[in-house]
Amino acid sequence: MKKKKVLIAPSILSADFAKLGEEVKALEDAGADWVHVDVMDGHFVPNITIGPVVLEAMKHHTSLPLDVHLMITDPENYIEDFVAAGAEVITVHQEAVTHLHRTLTLIRDLDVMAGVSINPSTPVEMIYPVLDFVDVVLVMTVNPGFGGQSMIESCIEKIETLDALRKKKKYKFLIEADGGITDKFTKKLAKAGCDIFVAGSAVFKHKSGSYASAIKKLRDSV
Ligand code: DX5
Ligand code: ZN
Repeated sequence: MKKKKVLIAPSILSADFAKLGEEVKALEDAGADWVHVDVMDGHFVPNITIGPVVLEAMKHHTSLPLDVHLMITDPENYIEDFVAAGAEVITVHQEAVTHLHRTLTLIRDLDVMAGVSINPSTPVEMIYPVLDFVDVVLVMTVNPGFGGQSMIESCIEKIETLDALRKKKKYKFLIEADGGITDKFTKKLAKAGCDIFVAGSAVFKHKSGSYASAIKKLRDSV
């Protein structure tokens, strides 16, 4: 059977932040498709990471699309800054936004891909009203905030539901899974309909010590 083509998006949350430029370049050399950038504010999630200034600095070291995952409250206030800094994909959380349709429209109007994400405890029905015009649906497979957590496998069912709906309604969005992803789960995730794998620990802490081997392993295990 022909293998499904998937995108691998290593999360720089697990990178060495003291040398982010070298790290993103190394990901590109290792065959990554996107660079996943986790933005946390200490409100929506109990951790703080980086903002547009750091994104812009990274941008100078890679031509890979920067996939910005906003785990922040009031993300609409920062979207223009992230686009100006070089984001190609911007994903907001359904739980963090009051006017989801408006926020996603704002992202699309800036000519970047618009993504919507849901936490493990959020029913997939919560995003049905926006599925006809989003570019990416990011299904969290851990509670957001930290890398290195174990996958909550029950979330895979939401990917199946989204994929079935996508086929039925001819929606165009890509499905991205984020959290605890290792080559143990990739086959199951791809079968459920996942198109993009975010992987922090599975790339940066892979036993081989090689980003290229880690990325290849994720791709080949589908
Ligand atoms: C968690 C982040 C993830 C995280 C994934 O809040 O959204 O992108 O970096 O890391 P791993 O792959 O280690 O679970
Ligand atoms: Zn993420």
